[in-house]
This record gives sequence, C-alpha cells and structure tokens, in this order.
Amino acid sequence: MEPLKVAICGGGRTGHLNAILFKQLHNVQVSMLTSNPEVIDQHTRHTPMQALLPDGSTLSARLDRVTTDARVAVEDADIVIITVPAHARQQMLQAIAPHLSADKPVYIGAIPGFCGFDWLAEAALAERPNLVIWGMKDVPHTAFDLKPGLSIKMGGSKSQLYVATHARESDASRQQLHTLLTVLYGPCVTLLDNYLEITLTPGNPIMHSSVIYGLIGPYGQWHRKIFPQRMCWWTECPELGAYFLERMDQESQDLCAVISQRLGVDLSSVKSLKQEIVEAYGEQIRDQSSMLSILRTNQAYNDILAPMVPADNNRPGYVIERESRAFNEDVAYGLVLLVEMARRFELKVPYIEEVLNWSVAYMQGLRDSALDYFPSHWPRTA
Ligand SMILES: NC(=O)c1ccc[n+]([C@@H]2O[C@H](COP(=O)([O-])OP(=O)(O)OC[C@H]3O[C@@H](n4cnc5c(N)ncnc54)[C@H](OP(=O)(O)O)[C@@H]3O)[C@@H](O)[C@H]2O)c1
Repeated sequence: MEPLKVAICGGGRTGHLNAILFKQLHNVQVSMLTSNPEVIDQHTRHTPMQALLPDGSTLSARLDRVTTDARVAVEDADIVIITVPAHARQQMLQAIAPHLSADKPVYIGAIPGFCGFDWLAEAALAERPNLVIWGMKDVPHTAFDLKPGLSIKMGGSKSQLYVATHARESDASRQQLHTLLTVLYGPCVTLLDNYLEITLTPGNPIMHSSVIYGLIGPYGQWHRKIFPQRMCWWTECPELGAYFLERMDQESQDLCAVISQRLGVDLSSVKSLKQEIVEAYGEQIRDQSSMLSILRTNQAYNDILAPMVPADNNRPGYVIERESRAFNEDVAYGLVLLVEMARRFELKVPYIEEVLNWSVAYMQGLRDSALDYFPSHWPRTA
C-alpha cells in the first residue's frame, strides 16, 4: 500500500512534536519544511529527533525529508500541516502553493487553525479545487523546550481534537480528511460543522492582550515602569487583566450569539473561555471561583513566563516585548479579526476595542493583519 505522505511546514515546537508522533505510525512518510539550519544539520548527521513525554518516556524518529526547499517538502504530499504562527502563514502558503500536486486531493491545514485560516487559504488557493482547506481548533499537545533537530518536550494532551473545513469543501472531502486525521491522531478527531466554530473560540488573542493591558496599560500598576524580574503570565496575573479578560470573553460570546442568529448557523459548541479552561484542566485548577483564581491557580499554567526583554539603555530590569507573538499574532491576527467581524454586524465590543487600540499603539502600528485576507464581502456569501 502507498504510504501516507505528510508535509509539516514549520520546524518549531509544534512541527517537531507532530512530526515525531507521526513517524511512530506504520506506513507514514514525514517531510519537514524548515528555515532553521540547525534542524537540517542534525538531519544530515542522521541524529534522531526525540520527543520527551510527560511520563518520562522518550519517542525517537528519523524524518524522511528535512529541507529548506518548499518543492521537495510538499510536491508529493497527501496532507500538509502548517505549524507556523498566524502572522507567518501567508508567506508559507505563497512558498508552497506552486509545488502542491494538482493531480490528487491534497488536504492543507493549519494547527492551530485560529485567526481565520480558512479565509487566508481561500485567498491564496482560489483556483485550486483539488486542495482541501482545513484547520484544527487547537494544538493536540502543548510542546516546549525545543532543541532544534534534537528534541522537544510534550506537555498536556487534548482528549478531543476538533477540526473544521472551509465551507467550499464537499462532504466526501470532509469524510476523507476525517479518515486521514484519524490515522494520524487516533479516534479522538471530531469534525465541526462550521469553520466559525474555530474562529470564534476564545483563546490566546483575548487572554494575552488582556493580561498585558492589565499590567502595563494606562491603568496598570506597571504602566511606564520597569519590571525588576520576569513575571509569570498566569500565576502573577493582575486583577485588572482578569477583569478585562472576563469582559472580553463576554463580548466574544455576544459576537458569537449575533453571528449564530443572523447567519442561522449553530455555534453552540463555542464555549466561554472560562468554561473552556475549566473543562480542559478540571482538577488542576485549585480555585475555580473566578477568572482571576482560575488563571492564578491552574497548575498547568505554572511558571509560564510573560514575553519580556531586558529594558533598553542598560537600565536594570525588563519590559514587555513589543515584537512578541502576543502582539504580532494575537493582536494583529486575532483581536483585529474579532473587532472587524463585530463591526460588520454593528455589534459594540468596547472592551476588546479598548485593548486592541492600546495594543496597536504599543506595537507602534500594524504592519500586517488578518484584514489583509478577511473577505471584504463577508458575511454576505457566508
Ligand atoms: N507550542 C505550544 O505548546 C503551543 C500552544 C498553543 C498554541 N500554539 C500555537 O501554535 C503555533 C506554532 O507555535 P509553536 O509554539 O510551535 O511556535 P515555534 O516553536 O516558535 O515555531 C514556529 C515556527 O514557525 C516558523 N516561523 C516562520 N516565521 C515565523 C515568525 N515570523 N515568527 C515565528 N516563527 C516563524 C519557524 O519555523 P522554522 O524554524 O522552520 O523556520 C518557527 O520555528 C502558533 O500559532 C502558536 O500560537 C503553540
């Protein structure tokens, strides 16, 4: 039987972990497209890649191809998985699109699929009917402590994986995608009815931006101050950040309700962030009484550092990093999209807008954003 050919585009944490897991399966070929010369170098030396699992065990793999050449990585792929952050996806799609097969279905998806990957891929792959666009709601496992080409640590796993396709895909393509992803991830894969269920699920865009705003925004206790040491995102989350997060979570639910009602789509699978976190981490959260306590007492969130860099001009201490993914990805591709969707339904989301406007000023303006691909006609043809 022909092997299943998987191309992983992006040699970061998520890319490494998924590639190693797939190589544990029978008859699966894995290629990795990376710009990191260390990953290439280790592959050339035949060094095995290792995944260090939470129970202390190790999985080892040698990928079939590791390359900087987009053509070599994807030309015969059956399934392509983009694992670069949202702000790098457009460039990745441009690099691989000319080399994807035109002679068979190719299932091209993003993990995670948030920030409207379906709209981006639709724009980039418009005249390519054999390409089936999909996204996964979240990463299947957290991945951290990457040693490029050598090892990656696996954190918590999701018990259920939710996947959606672009609205253009047929039932037969959706079923075939489900079959392929079940081969790769096991029976925990569920197909969602509508890609909006991914796009509207609250997550990092509201979580990261609200906490930063609560720390250093105009009312934050660290406004225009330098942190003496690096802070943890969640265990040291400020009350003001949790307050804004709760408000933004509510506005995000309001948006979901309006879209569901006006477009007549069932978005009942989209839960509030609070509910998502409590359901995902359960007993690991010592105090589930409020957003603040959920964030501060979730053991799974312990010791995760906020994105900070040393202060400039040799001043001792740290500041929040303007170039962090919390801005480039979560604000420019997450919050921007929420606010624009709300605007098109004439829904007011003042808390999200307040945090967005401040964040954009802090990052000294948007260079690029989800508006570069969000269809100007939406929701008219949705
Ligand atoms: N790691 C996790 O546990 C986790 C948890 C939740 C969500 N996520 C999401 O998963 C996605 C991938 O995250 P990750 O943790 O795997 O990231 P990562 O370790 O930083 O890897 C991302 C890879 O994307 C490529 N890339 C291209 N342009 C980039 C750019 N401008 N900035 C950063 N990377 C760029 C790089 O690949 P090359 O080195 O091959 O060039 C990089 O190694 C992100 O959307 C992230 O928000 C990850």
